[in-house]
Amino acid sequence: MKRFFIFIFSLVAYSCWSQMPLQETFNLMPWPKTISAQEQQFTLTPDLSIAIDGPKSNRVTTAATKFLRRLSGRTGLFLKEGFPSTINNRKDASIILTYTTVSTLNIKTDEAYKLTVTNNNIHLNASTDVGIVRGLETLLQLISNTATTYYIPGVSITDEPRFVWRGLMIDVSRHFHPVHVIKRNLEAMAAVKMNVFHWHLVDDQGFRIQSKTFPELTDLASDGLFYTQEQIQDVVAYANTLGIRVIPEIDVPGHASAILTAFPNLGSKPGYEYSIERNSGVFDPTLDPTNEDTYVFLEQLFTEITPLFPDDYFHIGGDENEGKHWDENKDIQKFKAAHNLKTNHDLQTYFNIKIEKILHKLDKKLVGWDEILTPTMPTTAVIHSWRGENEGLPKGGTLIEAAQKGYNTILSNGFYIDRMESIEKHYLTEPIGNVTLSEEETARILGGEATMWSELTTSLTIDSRIWPRTIAIAERLWSPKTINDVNNMLKRIQPISFRLEELGVTHIKNRDVILRSMSNNQDISSLITLQKVCEPLKIYARNKDGIEYQTYSPFTLFADACVADAPDAVAFNRLVANYTAAPTTKTKTEIKKYLTTWNTQYEAFSALDKNPTLNTLEPLSKNLSVVSKTLLDVLDQKTISKTAKQQFTESLNILKQDHVDVEVAMVNALENLAKFPK
Ligand code: ACM
Repeated sequence: MKRFFIFIFSLVAYSCWSQMPLQETFNLMPWPKTISAQEQQFTLTPDLSIAIDGPKSNRVTTAATKFLRRLSGRTGLFLKEGFPSTINNRKDASIILTYTTVSTLNIKTDEAYKLTVTNNNIHLNASTDVGIVRGLETLLQLISNTATTYYIPGVSITDEPRFVWRGLMIDVSRHFHPVHVIKRNLEAMAAVKMNVFHWHLVDDQGFRIQSKTFPELTDLASDGLFYTQEQIQDVVAYANTLGIRVIPEIDVPGHASAILTAFPNLGSKPGYEYSIERNSGVFDPTLDPTNEDTYVFLEQLFTEITPLFPDDYFHIGGDENEGKHWDENKDIQKFKAAHNLKTNHDLQTYFNIKIEKILHKLDKKLVGWDEILTPTMPTTAVIHSWRGENEGLPKGGTLIEAAQKGYNTILSNGFYIDRMESIEKHYLTEPIGNVTLSEEETARILGGEATMWSELTTSLTIDSRIWPRTIAIAERLWSPKTINDVNNMLKRIQPISFRLEELGVTHIKNRDVILRSMSNNQDISSLITLQKVCEPLKIYARNKDGIEYQTYSPFTLFADACVADAPDAVAFNRLVANYTAAPTTKTKTEIKKYLTTWNTQYEAFSALDKNPTLNTLEPLSKNLSVVSKTLLDVLDQKTISKTAKQQFTESLNILKQDHVDVEVAMVNALENLAKFPK
């Protein structure tokens, strides 16, 4: 027995030991299920060719063609063959893609693949064409180089996802995002093997999908910003080619200001002046669940639009209905009493069940936010868990509860990227945690979705709010649970993130677009220095009570150029933590380098021709300089005068306050350094 344990221990130790160096070597995201490396490499030359060995698949042809363009773009190689061939024409191709079926997209789609790279060729095998699409992304991530060649390292990878539902929700109601913005994000999703695009099409701030049956919806409640049905079909087809399912969301019965602007007679408060909402928050306009016309309308609407979305699932929202207008309506109260519906939750369930029947007739399965989880809700519904335990819900929100009660379920609590929190938090959001579930219950946890609510996000900034943090979420949902080393992830994500630019994603470059605009095209280097240490206020603190910004406010401000995990602040925080734990000359030198940059930026900032927008950054720029200068003197062991000390404290206090909707993300480290007189 003892020997057996030693054997098992050695096996575990070996596998940890053998996996870790590979994670240090290769920058793959999401990290594959198994990977081993060989002392081989496939050298990339102009002779590279791809042969397709499988039934005709638009997905594979498109993915292989794009693969060749991306490879050639990265390497500068002038490939002799710019397009894939069929295996019959090119048995000797260097990359052979083998699969047996063209898959329809659903939660059972097989996305597994096996990739083998040797000195002589590359084999990518999968059961379905979707597996090939996934494997080609891994292959692109493996491209490496020396000073003289580009190559793919010799590896053997067997990979498949942990969860079948790996989604990104984009809210296009609060701010509309045109088709090209959606498409570039679909490309980025596919690059990190995500497979569900949840399209939040309707909310208080706008109805964004054309209805030919009810043209009033977009005529009166979209400000002209909506997708035509042809555009919807185009996006769905585009996503399908990338192996991405599209789930539409029409949020009912709450979040209904837009619908009720067009059809006030369906509202719960007769005489109320419904209008498109311009602020953020939770509002009262709610469909009247006691009015049969509501169901006639929704059935006609859903009958018209569900054919545009071939997926099995349809999201009805169902969140944040506080039922205020229900409480104020005597007829609704009477209806509740007559139907023995004790609470507004019961009334909403009555509504949900009727909607579920409509969707069932249309061959769709209902998905709703976790408010729909009530005792009488049929278990055919999918529960989308978004609220946390601090809202009186069990640990893990409703995800575990839903799975235990027999519902399929997906997680977004912990994946709210619009809260502008750190990547680490999202990465370490483990859906199942240490809860013991039966095999059946575990299988009901389908996966999760990053949610990009866009109250504070326009098409200029949406990419930088989604990426790179969503790459970490993609890995959480694809890779084995044991892949959770934050530092290693932060290393691997660097090349994966910047390569998304190849797909047209603007998460990096739009920083400079905003700063150039703010400065009227002057030298933005001092502004970049500030941007690298400032983070937008988190957890909706930026838009207090939802009324500081309207949908038409400027989202071209300094805070919009800033991102979560401000890079220089993150690096500095680490340096100071290391330095205060165990001071070394090397760390001190690195710290001084940052402080010098922060000290001198003020001179460059001061030299800029000012305008009212730039002026808002003056306190930030000036006080950062003051604090940094004093800290340099402290580190150089100079005597600090009483006045300088006072000025330091004053400046630090100013930096601790919110400025222009950002926080200085290393202000605590600056303070700690001052207290550490080495
Ligand atoms: C939600 O965030 N209201 C689902």
